[in-house]
Amino acid sequence: MKKILITGGAGFIGSHVVRRFVNKYPEYQIYNLDALTYAGNLENIKDIENQPNYNFVKGDIVDETFIYELFSTHNFDGVLHLAAESHVDRSIEDPLAFVKTNVIGTMNLLNAAKKQWKDNFEGKRFYHISTDEVYGSLGAEGLFTETTPYDPNSPYSASKASSDHFVRAYGETYGLPYVLTNCSNNYGSYHFPEKLIPLFINNIINNKSLPVYGDGNYTRDWLFVEDHAIAIDLVFHEGKNHETYNIGGFNEWKNIDLVKLLCQIMDQKLGRDSGTSEKLITYVKDRPGHDLRYAIDASKINKELGWKPSVTFEEGLEKTINWYLNNEEWLKNVTSGSYKDYYKKQYS
Ligand SMILES: NC(=O)c1ccc[n+]([C@@H]2O[C@H](COP(=O)([O-])OP(=O)(O)OC[C@H]3O[C@@H](n4cnc5c(N)ncnc54)[C@H](O)[C@@H]3O)[C@@H](O)[C@H]2O)c1
Repeated sequence: MKKILITGGAGFIGSHVVRRFVNKYPEYQIYNLDALTYAGNLENIKDIENQPNYNFVKGDIVDETFIYELFSTHNFDGVLHLAAESHVDRSIEDPLAFVKTNVIGTMNLLNAAKKQWKDNFEGKRFYHISTDEVYGSLGAEGLFTETTPYDPNSPYSASKASSDHFVRAYGETYGLPYVLTNCSNNYGSYHFPEKLIPLFINNIINNKSLPVYGDGNYTRDWLFVEDHAIAIDLVFHEGKNHETYNIGGFNEWKNIDLVKLLCQIMDQKLGRDSGTSEKLITYVKDRPGHDLRYAIDASKINKELGWKPSVTFEEGLEKTINWYLNNEEWLKNVTSGSYKDYYKKQYS
């Protein structure tokens, strides 16, 4: 039986990965390690919390002693590392928090894996989940490939770039078996409503303003989170050692066009007159260091591992909106802060 550590499994993407692994691989024991920061919500995975192969561990990856002890107790065969401070705006307010979790936390996991595996790496794998933001900003043309030089602009992307470099350095220097992926913007269920799509869905429901940065012409590539989880599963099991794969949706949208599409669908769903939600759009002062355009070339993972997104953006967005409309309780608990009580109720 394999023991797999997934970090950040109470967060947005991590919860989808944990759910997939617990349901699909009953032969694995899955350990979900999460500090339950503001972004960690155990309600995201309450549907699988009683499965016999699921284990939750509350803990901080920045705590070196705790991480060493955890590895020596469980001797994990594989690590999928998703825990991170993930919100760019927060990184502008408090960059050091991002260095602690994203850089030092990753270092602690790398060191613990190296120590525990005692340089005998047979059958072991360390998978670092990262972002396309490490590549910086594109102009109107071109795509990020796996060989695009790193050029991070925000404290968030700088911290993720740093951790990517350390993962590769441990591969080169110590032979640590790793795989690494850089993915574009995700959207879908269980997304904390500080990020654009869930924030705007929630604001439209509540008739609140929709603050769009600058002129709204920033372009992002969007990927349905369940397709990201499928890609992560594939890379973990079939990706080549010491390789990087870019993951993206082949799906570029200017922020303002995306927001207008969201408004149209929400008007239909809520039975409001067409154009009602668009009136909530306001343009706000730009974020400093804002990257103009991200776009991913995901042809390597497509050619080598056969992955491509399973849903179109329209399908994914429809599923996402339906999910938020059908899970008002989840949204209410997150926005009121009462989701924080779930851990106490279930685990203490
Ligand atoms: N969301 C995206 O669009 C996106 C795109 C590409 C890559 N990524 C990467 O994927 C990963 C997951 O992103 P997400 O959007 O799910 O993030 P998230 O903010 O929703 O979740 C992060 C999780 O990590 C936990 N965590 C934070 N600090 C911790 C610490 N010190 N110790 C233990 N746990 C801690 C939080 O409690 C939370 O559950 C991150 O590494 C992020 O950089 C995200």
